[in-house]
Amino acid sequence: MSRLALSLRINGETHEVLTAPHRTLLDVLRDDLGLTGTKENCLEAECGVCTVLLDGRAVNACILLAAQCRGRDIVTIEGLASGGELHPLQRAFVERGAVQCGYCIPGMILSAKAYLEECPEASEDGIREALAGNLCRCTGYQKITEAVATAARELYGGRTTQ
Ligand code: FES
Ligand code: FES
Repeated sequence: MSRLALSLRINGETHEVLTAPHRTLLDVLRDDLGLTGTKENCLEAECGVCTVLLDGRAVNACILLAAQCRGRDIVTIEGLASGGELHPLQRAFVERGAVQCGYCIPGMILSAKAYLEECPEASEDGIREALAGNLCRCTGYQKITEAVATAARELYGGRTTQ
């Protein structure tokens, strides 16, 4: 089987991988690089647990070929904490009790990050719309929405409208 040598920029570091052309970014993240914070479930862009940031936009890693990500900037949940400190979104999810089983949370947080960077004046409706592609079977979404609004206030100085 043919193999591709890929150079992938993930969480600020360059990783050299040798992979089959059909393998997805999710395959490479989890199986080759051990970045298992990106979760796996439906594999057909329905649930959002595999969400990562690609050049700042939230995408489903399960339907993206790893080869499509050459030269792009990839961020996974492992890349959010800095200097031993959780990202404000991570902290808000914990403090607002927005995490139950946790399986959906990495994808939720990355979708929320992309949304807040685009729309610092977050609204409840905007947050819900931004997270519509991320399914959670546990929480009912209210605490997740509150956590994102809390992080928006911390990150953007209270400009959020919620
Ligand atoms: S595993 Fe990618 S959207 Fe469900
Ligand atoms: S916290 Fe369990 S699926 Fe969301």
